[in-house]
Amino acid sequence: MRALVIGSGAREHAIVRGLLGDPEVTQVYAAPGNPGIAAVAHCHPISDIADGSAVVALARELGSDLVVIGPEVPLVAGVADALRAAGISTFGPSGAAAQLEGSKAFAKEIMAAADVPTARCYVCTTPDEVSAALGATGAPYVVKDDGLAAGKGVVVTDSTDAAGEHAEHCFAGGGSVVVEEFLGGPEVSLFCITDGTTVRPLAPAQDFKRVHDGDEGPNTGGMGAYSPLPWAPEDLVDDVVTRIAQPTVDEMRRRGTPFSGVLYVGLALTPAGPRVIEFNARFGDPETQVVLARLRTPLGGLLRAAAEGALAELPPLAWKDDAAVTVVVASENYPASPRTGDPIDGVDGEGSDEAYVLHAGTSRDDSGALVSSGGRVLSAVGVGADLAAARTAAYKLVDGVQLRGSHHRTEIAQQAADGTVTVPSA
Ligand code: AMP
Ligand code: GLY
Repeated sequence: MRALVIGSGAREHAIVRGLLGDPEVTQVYAAPGNPGIAAVAHCHPISDIADGSAVVALARELGSDLVVIGPEVPLVAGVADALRAAGISTFGPSGAAAQLEGSKAFAKEIMAAADVPTARCYVCTTPDEVSAALGATGAPYVVKDDGLAAGKGVVVTDSTDAAGEHAEHCFAGGGSVVVEEFLGGPEVSLFCITDGTTVRPLAPAQDFKRVHDGDEGPNTGGMGAYSPLPWAPEDLVDDVVTRIAQPTVDEMRRRGTPFSGVLYVGLALTPAGPRVIEFNARFGDPETQVVLARLRTPLGGLLRAAAEGALAELPPLAWKDDAAVTVVVASENYPASPRTGDPIDGVDGEGSDEAYVLHAGTSRDDSGALVSSGGRVLSAVGVGADLAAARTAAYKLVDGVQLRGSHHRTEIAQQAADGTVTVPSA
């Protein structure tokens, strides 16, 4: 199998790594990839990953048997449709199905139709509607940009002023605004691989969205993650598949816009049970880094079965007993206005099975030196017998990284390792 991965983040680096570990995969390509991916696979420049004809041309040139689309922007732009129209097996939903992520209002409508538990919400098109909605939900206020916002379109605040300001900011960008009921309880990300009919859940993970320790500061794309979740209820995955993922996939098929690829179910475990916070139409970053670190089933075969409608025939997924933790190293001033162009030291080599650094916002300068080029720069992954061992391995890598002004959270997976995460009960 010749696989082409579209994207350039640590998620794509983790996918490339997973594909390379599948004996059926003979070649792995990435476009555009990044310097970390280039050390293990062939990277190809591409003018625009959201340009379907450019992706089709590259996939043809490389003789790709499977294209895996990492980020949401090309999915929402319909790149998977262009690839399928050209007869190329593609892991990732159509543009119409990717609206589950592309529009929060659309996702809410599907959830209502499929009777999926989620926060009560108000879709607003004027500041007056926002005021009325804030009055109806009360604090803490949850205000969301309807469209794609790279994980930064959501503000959760006790301040009416801050809530109103975020709504104005979203309106200024031209979209509508979703105001929601606040959902309390630990968050879980569950990736459900689907071919449009059959749903195969991966292991759940937890992401750390806020920039600072103690869940302080603004939301980011994600500052770290771990898996497994020793504190999660035993029936969580079955429950989420039965009540959330399968009904959503069935509703999308019923509407003539089947969803195939990975349905990312973002949940809050509230006292009333799991509730959907968001759907995404792709693997999450950084959760993918820890989930794939634990997956034993060959990744290429799994993704191809989803792409080709053959998931029902696949044997049960196999997992390592190990735990995995990833810690994101971010550049100075991320997420507000990340500083870029600084040299990065301390990440040479491919690492080991237990400790490796995945690249995200990195590039090579004119002299070939590794420099920062984005907000989330690196994702250090540690694997161990338990979360404590995995944390130690990940933080040892982070301690070795030298990047001026960089920052990271210091307590990723700490509470889970200590056994102090609790799920509220009704
Ligand atoms: P989203 O972009 O929808 O994933 O939201 C980003 C983050 O905002 C989530 O991971 C939550 O931490 C928080 N959030 C979003 N919606 C809610 C909600 N209804 N209640 C509480 N927190 C929320
Ligand atoms: N880690 C959150 C996301 O990928 O959206």
